[in-house]
Formats: sequence, C-alpha cells, structure tokens
Amino acid sequence: MSLRLLCSIQFQTTLLLFVVLLHVETLAVFGISIAATTYFGGNETDHLALLAFKRQISRDPENIFSSWNDSLHFCEWEGITCGRKHRRVIALDLQARGLVGSLSPYIGNLSFIRKIMLPNNSIGGKIPDEVGRLFRLQVLWLRNNSFQGEIPANLSHCSNLYFLSVSRNNLSGSIPMELAFLLKLEYLFVDRNNLKGEIPTFIGNLSSLQQLDAYDNVLGGHIPDALGQLKSLNFLQLAGNKLFGLIPPSLYNFSSLTVFSLFKNELSGSLPTNLFLTLPNLQWFLIYENQFTGSLPVSLSNASELQYFHVGKNNFTGKLSVNFGGLHHLELLSIADNNLESGNDDEMNFFQSLVNCSSLQKLGLSGNQFKGTLHNVLGNLSTQLTYFAISENLIFGEIPFGMGNLVNLATLWLSDNKFSGTIPEDIGKLKKLQRLYLHNNKVSGRLPIALGNLTLLNELYLTSNKLEGTIPPNIENCQNLLVLSLSQNNLSGIIPKQLFAIPMLSIGLFLGQNFFVGSLPSEVGNLVHLEVLDLSENKLSGKIPSTLGSCTSLEYLYVEGNLFQGEIPISLSTSRSIQVMDLSRNNLSGAIPNLLEKLSLKNLNLSFNDFQGEVPTKGVFANASAISLIGNRRLCGGILELKLPRCLTKEEKKIKWPFALKVVISMACVILVITIVSFFLFYWRKNKRNDKSSESSLKQSFLRVSYQMLLKATDGFSLANLIGVGSFGSVYKGILGEDRAIVAIKVLNTERQGASRSFISECEALKNIRHRNLVKIITSCSSVDFRGNDFRALVYEFMPNGSLENWLHMNLETSIMQVEIRSLSILQRTNIAIDVACALDYLHHHCPMPVVHCDIKPSNILFDCDMIAHVGDFGLAKFLLRPTQFQKK
Ligand SMILES: *[C@@H]1O[C@H](CO)[C@@H](O)[C@H](O)[C@H]1NC(C)=O
Ligand SMILES: *[C@@H]1O[C@H](CO)[C@@H](O)[C@H](O)[C@H]1NC(C)=O
Ligand SMILES: *[C@@H]1O[C@H](CO)[C@@H](O)[C@H](O)[C@H]1NC(C)=O
Ligand SMILES: *[C@@H]1O[C@H](CO)[C@@H](O)[C@H](O)[C@H]1NC(C)=O
Ligand SMILES: *[C@@H]1O[C@H](CO)[C@@H](O)[C@H](O)[C@H]1NC(C)=O
Ligand SMILES: *[C@@H]1O[C@H](CO)[C@@H](O)[C@H](O)[C@H]1NC(C)=O
Ligand SMILES: *[C@@H]1O[C@H](CO)[C@@H](O)[C@H](O)[C@H]1NC(C)=O
Ligand SMILES: *[C@@H]1O[C@H](CO)[C@@H](O)[C@H](O)[C@H]1NC(C)=O
Ligand SMILES: *[C@@H]1O[C@H](CO)[C@@H](O)[C@H](O)[C@H]1NC(C)=O
Repeated sequence: MSLRLLCSIQFQTTLLLFVVLLHVETLAVFGISIAATTYFGGNETDHLALLAFKRQISRDPENIFSSWNDSLHFCEWEGITCGRKHRRVIALDLQARGLVGSLSPYIGNLSFIRKIMLPNNSIGGKIPDEVGRLFRLQVLWLRNNSFQGEIPANLSHCSNLYFLSVSRNNLSGSIPMELAFLLKLEYLFVDRNNLKGEIPTFIGNLSSLQQLDAYDNVLGGHIPDALGQLKSLNFLQLAGNKLFGLIPPSLYNFSSLTVFSLFKNELSGSLPTNLFLTLPNLQWFLIYENQFTGSLPVSLSNASELQYFHVGKNNFTGKLSVNFGGLHHLELLSIADNNLESGNDDEMNFFQSLVNCSSLQKLGLSGNQFKGTLHNVLGNLSTQLTYFAISENLIFGEIPFGMGNLVNLATLWLSDNKFSGTIPEDIGKLKKLQRLYLHNNKVSGRLPIALGNLTLLNELYLTSNKLEGTIPPNIENCQNLLVLSLSQNNLSGIIPKQLFAIPMLSIGLFLGQNFFVGSLPSEVGNLVHLEVLDLSENKLSGKIPSTLGSCTSLEYLYVEGNLFQGEIPISLSTSRSIQVMDLSRNNLSGAIPNLLEKLSLKNLNLSFNDFQGEVPTKGVFANASAISLIGNRRLCGGILELKLPRCLTKEEKKIKWPFALKVVISMACVILVITIVSFFLFYWRKNKRNDKSSESSLKQSFLRVSYQMLLKATDGFSLANLIGVGSFGSVYKGILGEDRAIVAIKVLNTERQGASRSFISECEALKNIRHRNLVKIITSCSSVDFRGNDFRALVYEFMPNGSLENWLHMNLETSIMQVEIRSLSILQRTNIAIDVACALDYLHHHCPMPVVHCDIKPSNILFDCDMIAHVGDFGLAKFLLRPTQFQKK
C-alpha cells in the first residue's frame, strides 16, 4: 500500500468517527411530549400484543422479560409506558438491551403507541407493515439493528411521525414514494443500509425536514434540485453513495445549514466563489473523494464557524489564496490530493495565515504543487496539532527548527519533497510522535540521537535520503516501532544488535542499499513478528544466521547483493509464511535444501552464488518462472525447463556384480586365483566409478532433526533400540521422519573428553564425501536435551546386517538380527576385503582432501541388506593437508 493511500485512509477514518459521533437522533427524540388521550377500552389487546412482541424475541441477555409476568400489570413492565388515565401503552423503549429476534406484527395492535424505540439491538426480519396502523406514532427509532427487506410503504399512514430512523440496518429497495405523505417528518435517517434508486424529489415537499442522512447506501442519480425547498434543513448528509452530476445551485441557499456532507460520490463541477457567504453557518463542509474542479472559493476566508473542511481527492486547481486567519474554530483542514499551487511572489501565504487557527488539530496539504519553505512557520502552528501532512509537494529548505513546539503531534508527513539539511535534534521533543515520514527528500547528516526519545514511534520512514553515519544503538528505546525504513541512504557501520531488541517490529525492517558491513547479528531471530526483512545491496558478510528461522512471520526476505557465505540455514525452511526469498549475488554454497520445496514460496532467487548438487523439483521448484538459478555452475537436475545437467540416479551408482563372475570365484578355492580376480575386479570397479563419483556426491540433502525428533525416533533412547556402545557414545536404531526411514543414531557421550572433537571431525569428514562403501551420514543434531545438557548426535543410514566383528566373533548378545548364515563364505570374505579396499582407496585418493580413517577395525565395518560392506565411524579421522602429494595424477 502506498504511503499516500495510508495517509488518506487514516484521515478518513478520523472523519467517519466524527460522523458517528454526530448523534443528532438522540436529541431529537427527547423533544417529544406525551399528550393524554381519551379512553377507548381494549387494554387486553395491548396485553396480547406485548406478549406477542416478547414471544418473537429469542434472546434477552439482560433478562428484562422476567418482569413481564402476570403478577404485574403490563404498564409496570420494564420498558413500557402507559397513558396516565386509560392505561394503554404509549411508549415501548428498550434501547441497547441486546435483544435478538424479530418484530411481531402484533405491534400494529398497540394502537395508542407514540414512540417505538429499539435502537442498538439485534432485531431482524422485516419491519412489519402493521406498523402502518399506528397512526398516532411519532417516533420510530430502529437504528443499529438487523432489519432487512424494504422500508414498508404502509408507514405513510403514520401521519404523525416526525422522527424516523432506520439507520445501520440491512434494508434494501428504494426510499418509498409513499413517505411523501409524512408531512410532519423532521428527522429522516436512512443511512448505512443498502438502499438504491435515486433520492426522491418528494423529499423537497417534506417542509418540516431538519435533518436528512442517507450516508453509505448505493443511491445513484443526481441530487434533486427540490432539496433546495427545505428551508429548515440544517443537516444534509448524502455521502458515500453513487451520486453524480452537479450540486444543484439551490443547495447553496440554506442559511441554516451547518453540516454539508457529500464526500465519496462522483459529483463534479466547481464551487461558487461566494459559497461560504450564502452558507454562513457551515460547521462541516465535507466533499472529499469526488471530481470537483476549479478553484477553492475565496469566501472560505469568511467561514468563521467552520470546524471541519475536507475537500481532499478532487481536482481543484489554481493558486490557493485563502486567508485562514479568521477561522478560529477550524479543527480539521484537508485540501490534500488536488492540484493546488502557491504563487511565486507570495509563496505559501495561506500557510502563514494558519498560525492564527488556534484550534487546528489536523492539517492535510499533501499531494499538491505547493512550492516554498516552512521556515519559522511550522513551529508557530497551534500546539493542538496532532496531524500534519505536506508530502508530495515541492517544499524545499531545511526541516524547520522549532518544530519541537508541536508537542501533540502524532503524525508528521514530510515525504516526497525537496527538504535538505539535517534532521533537527529538537525532533526529540515530539514525545507523542507515532508516525514520521521523511522519505524521498534530500536530508543529509547523521541520524539524530534524539530519535531514541520518541518512545511512541510506530512508523519511521527515512528511505531515499542522503543520511550517513551509523544507526544509533538507542534506537532500542523506540520499543513501539512497527516499521523502520532506512533504505537508500549512505548509512554505514555494523547493524547494532539493539535494533533487534524491538519485538514489535512487524511490518518491515528495510536497511537495503546502504553501506552496512559485518555480519547479521543472530539476535535477528527475536523479530518473530517481522514480515519483511530487506538487507539487500550492502556489504554484509559471514553466514546467514540460522536464528533467522525463528522469524516465523517472515514473508519477504531480501539479502541479495551482499557478501554472505556458507549454506542456506536449514532452519529457514521452518518459516511457513515465506513467499519471496532473494539470496542472489552472494557467496552462498552447499546444496539447495530439499525442505524449501515444502514452503509456500512464490519466488526464489538463488542466482549468482556457488550452490551445488541436485535442484529439487517440487514446490516452488516446479515452476521455472518462479525461480532463478543462473550463475551457479555446479547445479544439476531440477525440472526440464531449467536445462541443467542431469544428476546420476541411485541405480546408476549401484553397480551390481555380474552373477557369473561370482560363481566362478566361488568355485575357485585357490587363494592366488582369488587374489588375481580380486585385483581385476578392484580396478574394473574403480575405473567404472572414477568419472562418476564426483557427481554422485552432489546428490545430497540434509534433513534437519531436533533432539525431540530423535527422542521420538528411538522411543526415548530405549534399551530395546540400543544396537551398540562405543568409545564415544551409544548407537541406537530409530525410525525417523514422515517417510519412517530406519536409521542408526549415534549419541555422543558429551561428558567424555574428546567427544566433541570427535563429533566435529566426523561431521567434517563426512560432510563432503560420498561413497558406496562408506556409511552414509544423513544428518547431525547439535542441541540441548530437556535437562539442558549438550546433546550431539549423528544420524546414519541403518546397516541391518551388523558389523564385521559380529560376523567374525558371533555371539548372541551382539547379534542384532536373525541371521541364518552363521559364517561368511570365502566369496563373501573376498568381497568384504574389496569393498573396504575400495573405500580406503576413495578416502586416500579421490576425496577433495585425503582423509585418513585412523580406526579401521572389524567393528567399524558394517553391512547393508545386500551384505555390501561400509566403512563407518570417522570419529578419529584426520585430513591430510597437502592433497596434491597424495593424488595419483
Ligand atoms: C383492562 O381494563 C379493565 C377495566 O378498566 C380492567 O378491569 C382490567 O383489569 C384491564 N386489564 C388489563 C390487562 O389491564
Ligand atoms: C414478576 O416480576 C417481578 C419484577 O421483576 C418480580 O419481582 C416477580 O417476582 C415476578 N413474578 C413472578 C411470578 O415471576
Ligand atoms: C392483532 O394483530 C394480529 C397480527 O397482526 C392479528 O392477528 C390480531 O387479530 C390482532 N388483534 C388482536 C385483538 O389481537
Ligand atoms: C448505541 O451505541 C452507540 C455505540 O456504542 C452509542 O454511541 C449510542 O449512544 C447508543 N445509543 C443508544 C440509544 O444506546
Ligand atoms: C450497535 O449496538 C451494539 C449493541 O448495543 C453496540 O455494541 C454497538 O456499539 C452499536 N453500534 C453503533 C455503531 O451504534
Ligand atoms: C397498512 O395501513 C393501513 C392503514 O393504517 C391498514 O389498514 C393496513 O392494515 C396496513 N397493512 C398491513 C399489512 O398491516
Ligand atoms: C443483508 O441482506 C442481504 C440480502 O438482502 C444478505 O445477503 C446479507 O447477508 C445481509 N447482511 C447482513 C450483515 O445481515
Ligand atoms: C410537492 O408538492 C407540490 C405542491 O403541493 C406538488 O405539486 C408536487 O406534486 C409534490 N411533489 C411530489 C413529488 O410529491
Ligand atoms: C532526550 O531524552 C534525554 C534523556 O531523557 C534528554 O536528556 C534529552 O534532552 C532529550 N532530548 C530531546 C531533544 O528532547
């Protein structure tokens, strides 16, 4: 939403509030007099009618109907007034009692009733036609209920009606012609319904009419000229409809009119220059959001009673040459979003005259062509001022010092002008300031320390200026900030971690296009309500902190154009609300986490980094136009449209031994033969794999696991799942994740010396290496258990056939499965030797950096379901740091 829109919405909400407060109905009703009438008998009819009324009310939260019982005469019932002599009901008054139900047609039998007053309830259904029988009725007050259907034409028989309010219901249809007979009508309120059709001309014949409110319906057509005949009219509100055309000139002739409200229609034409002379008593003049043209009437200078003047969002033009000096009651002045100008010679004179408007609270001048400075004037405006907006004009010069006098200011809107100079320190005196908009100007210098005094500040927009220096750490005092935008300035230094101690920050934190350096503090994870984080185009470095995953409300993440390194933190895939993620133009590497598929991402930009491995295909990755991956040369796979090289499939990696060969070998019992064949096989397999091993290592994605997940997977690390105890910890069998994969979980004994080092060296060793004969590590977990102790675990592919040690020294305790073959055949033994040799050959000669296992022994050689041997336990592994020396070529 553009700020300008925000501005006008806020302005109008305030106005609507005023309109609601104008509760003229209340005053009018109490003007009633209760005249005595003659006695007709028939009191039982009233009794029955009231009981019928009660029956149709289904909810009575205040229990008023408990007094409507037979032990009391109905004249004593709550809400009922009877005539003094004849004991017939003359008023039914149940305002705001929370009544739910409908209005019984029996109400038409209360033939002596004068006032039906049921506002602020939830009575629905139709307004019964039978009300038309109540020819003595004077007041029908049904405001704020749930009535539907049309206004009954039968009401025309209620010829004594002077107050009719059906405001705030759900009435439809048009205003019935028959109401023309209600010649005594003084107050007609049909506002906030769904009435359509035109404003009937007969209203001009209701010569007693004082107030007419048709606000917020769907009435169309022109405003009838006949309204001009209503000489007693003082309140006219036809706002919020679909009226078009010109305002009939007859409307400018009500000397008694105080409220003139036609905002939010499609009215056009210009205003007569003498308007405020012919309507001298106007207090409210509200015509915003129409299509009026021409200049503002000069007679505005004479409108001495005026309180609210709002003509925003029209097409008024010309030089504003009004002297507001005599408008002492003026509280709201908005001429925003027109095309008004200030002259060249007497620039902004109208603005100076505002200094005399001592009641002024809201001043909206945004979106015009005003050109000039605010020097020495702004600070002299009324201290009542809470809202000042002059954005989108041509104002230049410094932000006036002295502004600090406006101690009640809550909104200060100076954006999109040509302000220069620095932000004055006395801004710190605006203790009530909630919104400060200074974006798109030429303001320079440092951010004032005094910003920290603005503890109520909700929104601070300083985007696109020439600000420099660092963010003052006392920004932390602005604990109510919802949005902070400092983008497109020349700010530098590190991002202070205090900035992340403002948990209210929710709408956005915009720091893009500056010169910030250093890393992104991990405290960023405190911003759990943040929706937009923009750090783009800075010089930020280091890793993207995994705490960013705690920003669970994040929808837009922009970190492009920085120097971030390392992998995409897996934790980011927990941000369920993320929609757009731009990580392009950094130095990020590693695999693209598969879990990103699960997010509701609409756009993902990973271009110009160093990502590698297989590109996922589901979720956002299924839509080539939603992702950008260019500039990453080591990616493969993904959907076809991406035109990336193919990754190797599992089958291609798992090369089966030819069966015939196995038979031959099993027949040969001479060790020499075996040795020759083994050497043959050794080289054959190695060469097969040489060209593919680097690619196969790319196909890897890491699952993120927590302590809780592992706890669940192993049934609380139960003894039943314990499959081994080693020097650095215990190994459990577990069932993990949604696909219920069987895994082996090595839990490190963190109290033991060296365990942590062993964990790290194992992670390091296995991070980059993949081989058919190495135990595959699925993921690792570094966390704390529920006692708060360090918890470290490694999760491996499960090896169902146990270790070589089990097989060589078979005993019942260590055997973990039912194995039928109790001893290894000579062929199996040969294969195992070859498998282990292959693994060692790979480790020593074909890894990115040679790895020395340092702990090869039968218990570290494990078998998968096909009895293929895998070397495991890299807890003691070491890297050899001079790789070239060990490489074959
Ligand atoms: C109706 O009026 C008659 C005569 O005045 C009286 O006896 C009777 O009690 C009244 N009934 C009710 C319900 O008020
Ligand atoms: C009738 O209503 C009155 C007033 O609320 C109450 O005092 C009285 O107990 C009620 N009588 C019965 C029978 O409910
Ligand atoms: C009162 O009104 C109802 C419904 O409009 C009607 O059925 C009934 O006959 C009327 N008269 C009496 C005496 O209740
Ligand atoms: C109806 O409710 C509104 C809003 O709460 C209040 O301003 C008004 O005074 C109420 N009217 C009556 C008659 O209770
Ligand atoms: C409508 O009536 C309800 C119930 O009394 C009240 O809470 C609400 O404020 C009223 N609304 C208006 C706008 O009068
Ligand atoms: C409409 O009003 C007339 C005159 O009071 C009355 O005779 C008629 O019964 C009313 N219509 C209904 C449906 O009550
Ligand atoms: C208003 O009435 C229309 C039908 O006339 C209905 O669809 C709508 O739900 C009603 N709205 C409310 C708030 O009762
Ligand atoms: C208004 O009153 C005049 C004079 O009594 C009459 O001629 C005209 O028809 C009336 N207009 C409407 C719409 O009732
Ligand atoms: C800001 O607050 C500090 C401490 O409360 C105070 O010393 C300083 O004068 C204030 N600055 C302004 C401009 O109000």
